[in-house]
Amino acid sequence: MISIGQLLVLSSRGENPSLKEATTRRRRKRSREGETVPFEGKSHILLLLNMGDVEEKEQKLSKTLSTDPNDYTIIKEGDAEILMLANNEVFYNKTQVNNRDISIAVLRTFISKRKEEHAALLSKKAKVEHQMDPTQDEPIDISKEPLKTLGGKVRRELNPPRVLEALSASGLRALRYAREVEEIGQVIAVDNDKVSVEACKRNIKLNGSMACSKVESHLADARVYMLTHQKEFDVVDLDPYGSPSVFLDSAVQSVADGGMLMCTATDLAVLCGGNGEVCYSKYGSYPVKGKYCHEMALRILLASIESHANRYKRYIVPVLSVQMDFYIRVFVRIFTSASAMKNTPLKLSYVYQCIGCDSFHLQCLGRTVTKNNSVRYAPGFGPVVPQECSDCGKKFNMGGPIWSAPIHDQEWVASILENVKSMKDRYPAYDRISAVLGTVSEELVDVPLFVSLHNLCATLKCTSPSAVMFRSAVINAGYRISGSHVSPLGMKTDAPMDVIWDIMRCWVKNHPVKAQPPEQSGSVILSKEPTLQANFARAFASLSKSQAKKVARFLPNPEPHWGPKVRAGRQITSKHVSLLGPQSINRCNSHEEGDEPDAKRPKMDDSTANS
Ligand SMILES: C[S@@+](CC[C@H](N)C(=O)[O-])C[C@H]1O[C@@H](n2cnc3c(N)ncnc32)[C@H](O)[C@@H]1O
Ligand SMILES: [Zn+2]
Repeated sequence: MISIGQLLVLSSRGENPSLKEATTRRRRKRSREGETVPFEGKSHILLLLNMGDVEEKEQKLSKTLSTDPNDYTIIKEGDAEILMLANNEVFYNKTQVNNRDISIAVLRTFISKRKEEHAALLSKKAKVEHQMDPTQDEPIDISKEPLKTLGGKVRRELNPPRVLEALSASGLRALRYAREVEEIGQVIAVDNDKVSVEACKRNIKLNGSMACSKVESHLADARVYMLTHQKEFDVVDLDPYGSPSVFLDSAVQSVADGGMLMCTATDLAVLCGGNGEVCYSKYGSYPVKGKYCHEMALRILLASIESHANRYKRYIVPVLSVQMDFYIRVFVRIFTSASAMKNTPLKLSYVYQCIGCDSFHLQCLGRTVTKNNSVRYAPGFGPVVPQECSDCGKKFNMGGPIWSAPIHDQEWVASILENVKSMKDRYPAYDRISAVLGTVSEELVDVPLFVSLHNLCATLKCTSPSAVMFRSAVINAGYRISGSHVSPLGMKTDAPMDVIWDIMRCWVKNHPVKAQPPEQSGSVILSKEPTLQANFARAFASLSKSQAKKVARFLPNPEPHWGPKVRAGRQITSKHVSLLGPQSINRCNSHEEGDEPDAKRPKMDDSTANS
């Protein structure tokens, strides 16, 4: 049963507070002015909301808000549909279609990799058994035999993966997983908000028998639920408002060995250095403000997940980490191994960032010492920088620790991208996610953070070489360079900062700058002679593959003010009547529903922006 109070909460939910306030104001004004609230089709709405005592509710509702069924619409995303108020007051965040699409792509790849890994384990086991008992001619039925997984648990056969959507709201994501991801098992949708759970249950019904058999909705605190279901889920999805930090400890315990944690964080202001001490309190890491702050945010979140995992002798292996729209999202696998866990300090670093010229240097937390075939772990040698920046003489800020090991597994990224391209029509956000994945696939995975060409030029107060010229100079000097998916101007390179500055010194020799005050960082840098003669001649591979093919790497938002806001839905049709019960709708549109046309997404080819 849902109360009127809850219904009002339902009708006032939405991510956009100004929209909520405006709607409340409009309602109050209408009622003050004695306006009759339209009330056609009330029993339909009441039944949709599973409300039972129709008459009583009817009277109350008529005094409070419009219940015209036309106010309710069906929102379709992918293969899933959710019922919501046409004025968008029920939670639905259209911009998160990118997030949901990319998660579906990762889930599909996870399922196929998991099968491959299982098959490999089975054949390894069969080989071992044959070696132990070569007289056995009969092939063993290995599917019936116990099997050691990476985490040490015994498993006979591979069950369809169980997914926990720990913060499910309307259930749209859970429903998309269930309806779109072939071979998926049960999807458990949890939310601690009654109204959301009721909406989710309604939406499960709306999506037909397959959804009803696969998706379960539970009212619970996600933390309690995860703690009481340890290692039970092959995939745990965390998609909170703001920070996921309070959910991480229970989430890492709820993922099965070899399973995957998918985690969103939208508190980028905190993660990107707007509030360093808050970031430290939530994630145990200090951010520094830099052009690479969004990548640093990803690495802070990964370090934090690793730290929680380590408490339970577990560790993470990131497969994909992206910054999109207004959030970051990481996909990490979780394994259990007390010995592998000892490698964690080797994957973490502090970051020294010069307050004058933004040069940055990484200080690894640990190192290994190998002696007579045995490996010993020791603290990292330091400091890696002097007290003053050797480029400009200013002091350093210190941030971190961040995850400084790879944030993607390029083999996974290639599989995910291949899947997305082969199922183009199944991804409503195809353009955006394929562009992001394409750029990710070209990133140097062993190079944390990046320099920004514009930032280097701003420090020296010089004109900018084209990206192709700068990339060529780095390659001609014997180093590697790639773009970054978080910034069109980001350059990931293994060239040390002094080489970068030498290249810029050479550039400025041919493109002189006006004299600046001598104490300025740029003046100090330019006062030194380069030790390297930069060669700006166009180098092979100075363009990335996507740039060479003129494939857009960064797309503009599909529309202005891309973010939480009203979206027109579709009308309720006879199909939905049959799913929800004939009596549930006393007035519905007779026309067949059709998908909303995809918004035209103008493409911005960054090959010109970057060159
Ligand atoms: C951003 S919404 C989730 C959106 C959803 N994943 C999607 O893709 O549409 C966050 C949800 O988390 C729920 N929530 C917040 N704290 C929670 C907790 N401790 N346990 C369970 N749910 C919680 C909120 O009620 C809200 O519905
Ligand atoms: Zn400096």
